[in-house]
Order: sequence, then C-alpha cells, then structure tokens
Amino acid sequence: MTKPLLRVLSGERSRVPPIWLMRQAGRYLPEYRAIREKTKTFLDLCFNPKLAAEVTLQPIRRFGFDAAILFSDILVVPHALGQRVSFEEGNGPRLDAIDNASALRRVRRELDHVKLAPVYETIGRVKEDLPPAVALLGFCGAPWTVATYMIAGGGSVDQLPARQFAYRQAGAFAELIDVLVAASAGYLIRQFEAGVDAVQIFDTWAGVLPPDEFRRWCVEPCSRIITEVRKRVPKAKIIGFPRGAGTRIPQYIAGVPVDAVGLDWTIDLGFAREQVQSMRPVQGNLDPLALLAGGGALDRSIDAILEAFALGPFIFNLGHGVLPDTPTVHVERMIARVRSAAN
Ligand code: CP3
Repeated sequence: MTKPLLRVLSGERSRVPPIWLMRQAGRYLPEYRAIREKTKTFLDLCFNPKLAAEVTLQPIRRFGFDAAILFSDILVVPHALGQRVSFEEGNGPRLDAIDNASALRRVRRELDHVKLAPVYETIGRVKEDLPPAVALLGFCGAPWTVATYMIAGGGSVDQLPARQFAYRQAGAFAELIDVLVAASAGYLIRQFEAGVDAVQIFDTWAGVLPPDEFRRWCVEPCSRIITEVRKRVPKAKIIGFPRGAGTRIPQYIAGVPVDAVGLDWTIDLGFAREQVQSMRPVQGNLDPLALLAGGGALDRSIDAILEAFALGPFIFNLGHGVLPDTPTVHVERMIARVRSAAN
C-alpha cells in the first residue's frame, strides 16, 4: 500500500486529506517537554538519535497523523558549516553574525556530514517504529531563510541585515547562497538515503523580498537544490513552503519543480484553489492562532479550507508551526473534524 501522503504528492485527490502539522513535535506536548528536560540544550536533543526519534514519534502516537517530520532544526546546516549556533531559552537562535566579507570566509564551503550523522541515524530509528501508512518527512531551510539567520546572528525584524547585505555585497551574498544550495542539496540527498519518504523546503522569509530579489534569492536557489537532489534521487518528492509569497506562488511553481506547495494562512482560498491547486497539490493552511483559540473560530476555519480544496489533491496542515500554548484537545478536535467531514 502506498502511503496516503505520498499518493497526494503524486497528484491524487484523497477523499480524506492526509494530515500533519508543522512543529507537531514541540513544547505544546507535555511528553515533549519531559524529554526536552533530559538534554542541556536544544541542539543536544537534535543530535541525540534516541531522544530525537522518540520526539519525532510522539505526535504520531498521540494523534495518529499521516506523516512524521524528522525532529531537528533548519539551523543544523550553519552549524555543520562551522558557524557557532545555540538556542537560548525564550530568545530563539543565536549565531555568530556574518556581518562582513571576512566573517563569510570563515564559513566552510562544504557540510561536515560527521556533525550531521546523528540526524541520519535518527531517520533510521524512526523508520523502524513508524506505522507503514505514515510517511516520514525530512526537511531543510531554503538558502534565503537560512542566510537571514546566518547574517543577522539570529531572528531579525523584516530580515533587514540579510537584505542589506544582499544589496551592498551582492557578490559575497551570492557566494553564501551558492554554499547553501550545495549544502542543502547534499543534506537532503543524505536524508533520502537514510530513508525519508519526502522532504519539505522551508522558506519562512520568502515573503519579505521585492520581485527581482524573490526570483534571485528564493526561486532560483530552491530550483537548483531540487535539480541537484533529483540527479541522485530521481523520484524525490519535495514540498516547497514559500511563506508569505502570496500571489507570487504561481511564479514560484513555474520556477521551482516542487511536487506540492505549502500555503500560509494569509492566502485567499479562492486564489489558492484556482491559481495554485490547479497546478500542484496544496498543503495548509489553517491559521495556527485559530488552532490555539479553538471553538467556533477553529471549526469555521477548518470548514472553509476543506470546502476550498476538497476537489483536488490536498494535504491538511497549518499555515505555519503549532504555537506553544496550543491545547492538545484542539488538535484532537481538528483531526476529528477533518476526518469526519470528508465527502
Ligand atoms: O516541525 C517539526 O515538528 C520538526 C522540527 C522543526 C523544528 N524547527 C523544531 C524546533 C522544524 C521543521 C523546524 C524548522 C525551523 N526552525 C524553521 C522553519 C519553519 C518556521 O518555523 O518558520 C525556522 C525558521 C527555524 C529556526 C528556529 N528554531 C527558531 C526561530 C526557533 C526559536 C523559536 C521557537 O519556536 O522556539 C527554533 C527552535 C525550535 N525548533 C524549537 C523546536 C521544537 C523550540 C525549541 C525548544 O523546544 O526549546
């Protein structure tokens, strides 16, 4: 039997849409918080195959999602390129900012796969325990999004440091993007070799760029990654998530050969159905805040999404990650509603 999620990625419509959630393993789960306490840092958890596999499987056991997503982070790539990366409680990620060309020279040109070996081992462990109908997803950050953290040294308002760097030192910035294209492709290939069924490329900050920069720093690099991956894994199934790209998604699809597109919650559903789902399977796009709020707001949001996408290939998901205060009963209610409303 083919896994339901993979059937949708092949373009089939499913009567009951497969469901998974971005950040489905995380702080809103008490069992995640219990495991998180066992390691000193967040990266220690990402690089502990036994615990990372356990955390990956927790939401599958609790909710019966149709896909598990490897527990790791997009910033393990800068870490494996030699940049110092840490996660501070309540403050998000911290990196040594790359604020000039000489800092850029300290970044390795190639990934250190030894540092990433625990991630590949986690994939093998998860595969052993995953129910056969559940797909395992790997992932990486898109070069632009990863670069925004590498240059700012963490999260940033409107990604100003990276945008400024790209304007002022376009040659150096292009070099960094090239390094990230090669690193991300190599990283995804290893994930496929370790056993993932499909991968998602997270371009969380795709929406902040003007049109030319969007094409140059989002569309082209993601397209090159996919070309490289498919040279080694010809049938690699790949979901793109260009968050905030809105009405530019048709342009993204035209330039990036993804099998499906993740939609954030701001997109007009009619537009998404007519201009996006007509071209590719779609995934999304419940507002994470509606899931946190619950009640009528949650039910109405779910129904609108099901109605918009029911007639084509569609994966139910959020428009971004689960928020830490989300009650688990709301997740149960969401799944029950999606699975019972199927027509
Ligand atoms: O989705 C999953 O369940 C799989 C694991 C996963 C994590 N991060 C775990 C995580 C995935 C796919 C990511 C992707 C990621 N990481 C993105 C792209 C998607 C998005 O959310 O926009 C980005 C931009 C990052 C970088 C990152 N990691 C930030 C900005 C933060 C801090 C903010 C926060 O939510 O704490 C993280 C930390 C992080 N990554 C946590 C988790 C579970 C929380 C750390 C903790 O448990 O203390």
